[in-house]
Amino acid sequence: MKVTVIGAGKYGSTTVQRIAQADIADEVVMLDIVEGLPQGLALDMNQSRPIERYETRVIGTNSYDNTAGSDIVVVTAGKPRSPGMSRMDLLEDNAKIVGDVAREIADSSPDAVVIVVSNPLDEMTALFQQVSGFPHGRVMGQAGMLDTARFQDKIATVLGVSPLAVDAITLGSHGDTMVPVPSQVTVDGALLRDVMDDSTIEELVSATRSGGAEIVALLKQGSAYYAPSSAAARMVRAVAADEGAVLPVCAWVTGEYGIEDVYLGVPARLGRRGVTEIVELDLTEAERTALREAAAAVRDKQADVASLV
Ligand code: APR
Repeated sequence: MKVTVIGAGKYGSTTVQRIAQADIADEVVMLDIVEGLPQGLALDMNQSRPIERYETRVIGTNSYDNTAGSDIVVVTAGKPRSPGMSRMDLLEDNAKIVGDVAREIADSSPDAVVIVVSNPLDEMTALFQQVSGFPHGRVMGQAGMLDTARFQDKIATVLGVSPLAVDAITLGSHGDTMVPVPSQVTVDGALLRDVMDDSTIEELVSATRSGGAEIVALLKQGSAYYAPSSAAARMVRAVAADEGAVLPVCAWVTGEYGIEDVYLGVPARLGRRGVTEIVELDLTEAERTALREAAAAVRDKQADVASLV
């Protein structure tokens, strides 16, 4: 199993470390345009192997030759937000970067399953698919895993329970039209609405939507990467092990939920060939409407995105 991570910044390098430590790949290739950065980080990571007890080798490189024939590629290349910026403010800069990466990967790893994490996420995922020409099922984005984890953690913190006791899901876009789904949340098996009042639920939904911006404002430079890299590495594991696990990801929707031909956050079954099925949850009417609104909000931007590269 060969995994490549494009971008050796905060998100990329942390993702590489998590994948390597999971010991599911023979090698993880980390590529960046900055000379020496991926090579230095790779040396450092490999030297933790005898202590952490794993064998996966990390290879740092500036050349796509080393990435050839990858089974899975994670795309983290691109600029992160600064305080006050929305993810959409990154559109033009990151479209050029992700467009370049897509052309290179299409040449060097034509059979790879691709997980895009660069922002704005829904648009960059669509762009990668358009430029690479890969089948839609082999290109997906990471957002829902992260947004769901943020929702779960906020609920657990307010209720004073373990984050592991909270089951939740977040759909829609990775932006203003994110759709946290309170009707699907359980806490130790109990429905959320039975253990939390409506106004607190609404506050946590809104805090989840702005969860990324909250961290950007505190850091003042760069954006979140610990939970995001956990989310990306979890998706890599699901694909690598052909798990068939259902995870919230940004996937190509073809009629499910009454929505067609758009990349959107939905629950999807992941396996060795990428997304094998979109799973339709029993949503409330309000949640379905919010999901359709999210689809409408991202559809036009996704259609236009190829004109930016
Ligand atoms: N090819 C490869 N790497 C590139 C390219 C390129 N064409 N262009 C830029 N990079 C690299 C940069 O050199 C840098 O090392 O991408 C890396 C980005 O790292 P950071 O600035 O630390 O950003 P990070 O926090 O990792 O976020 C990356 O993920 O969550 C999103 O919004 C975030 O779009 C951003 C991306």
